[in-house]
Amino acid sequence: MAENILIIGASSGIGAGLVQHYCQNGHQVQAISRQPRPGSMVSADVNWLSPESNQASDAGEQAVHKVVAEALKNEPTIIFICQGWLHDNQHGPEKTLRQLNAAQMHKSFEINVLQPALYLKALFSYLTRQTGVKVLVLSAKVGSISDNELGGWYSYRLSKAAVNMLVKTSSIEIGRYNKTASVVSLHPGTTDTALSAPFQANVPSGQLQSSAATAKRLAAVAGALTPQLSGKLLNWDGAVLPY
Ligand SMILES: NC(=O)c1ccc[n+]([C@@H]2O[C@H](COP(=O)([O-])OP(=O)(O)OC[C@H]3O[C@@H](n4cnc5c(N)ncnc54)[C@H](OP(=O)(O)O)[C@@H]3O)[C@@H](O)[C@H]2O)c1
Repeated sequence: MAENILIIGASSGIGAGLVQHYCQNGHQVQAISRQPRPGSMVSADVNWLSPESNQASDAGEQAVHKVVAEALKNEPTIIFICQGWLHDNQHGPEKTLRQLNAAQMHKSFEINVLQPALYLKALFSYLTRQTGVKVLVLSAKVGSISDNELGGWYSYRLSKAAVNMLVKTSSIEIGRYNKTASVVSLHPGTTDTALSAPFQANVPSGQLQSSAATAKRLAAVAGALTPQLSGKLLNWDGAVLPY
């Protein structure tokens, strides 16, 4: 059955894979991204929307509310939030506390936590009343505190642990109004995108997924998601991971 799908952060490697996956399988797709619609998606059946402002400000938040209101006209049943950041030309993941710096920590929390939080806020009223709605926020297993045996990657780990708490806390609040809603964090598995590119040499053979393969797996998790799992951190195969 064709469903209405909303992908937020749709220019990400994984987000774009999800857009393509759902379009190819006959679903109606709304995409939100700061980036213009890519040429590779010109023929795809997707409604591509961009916020008018990307500032971390009142204007930026109003722009998020406006673009979300437009996307919700199609009443999506599955919503993916895909924003995330690990490195840029100036910053790589910190191996030691000595490498911590404010600029990197701020940027990590801005993209990994604040962006998903602003979109959840804009979606809140819809999530409290839409029967069977499912929200999957892309996180990372490195944000699991109990799974952390290697250390390092301070800003990314901290921000992903925080986004897991954002999901857990908002799932409780949304669940008070809507017992049929599901809000989860989701570890997509290591996927061949710009985010993972510098670290792919360390990935054991056969474990690096294409964005198309990851999209297929994550869509299967979304399809099987139930409100009983709301608030959990899920792996790409649907297994519950420890916080
Ligand atoms: N790739 C992996 O192996 C892997 C592993 C574990 C977890 N993850 C997680 O999966 C998600 C998607 O990862 P990816 O590899 O597909 O990432 P990616 O290709 O690097 O895409 C980056 C994403 O972050 C958003 N973004 C970047 N800078 C931003 C800014 N300044 N303000 C607001 N948004 C910004 C982009 O949104 P726009 O569309 O608006 O540009 C885009 O959605 C992330 O949460 C990541 O942490 C990925």
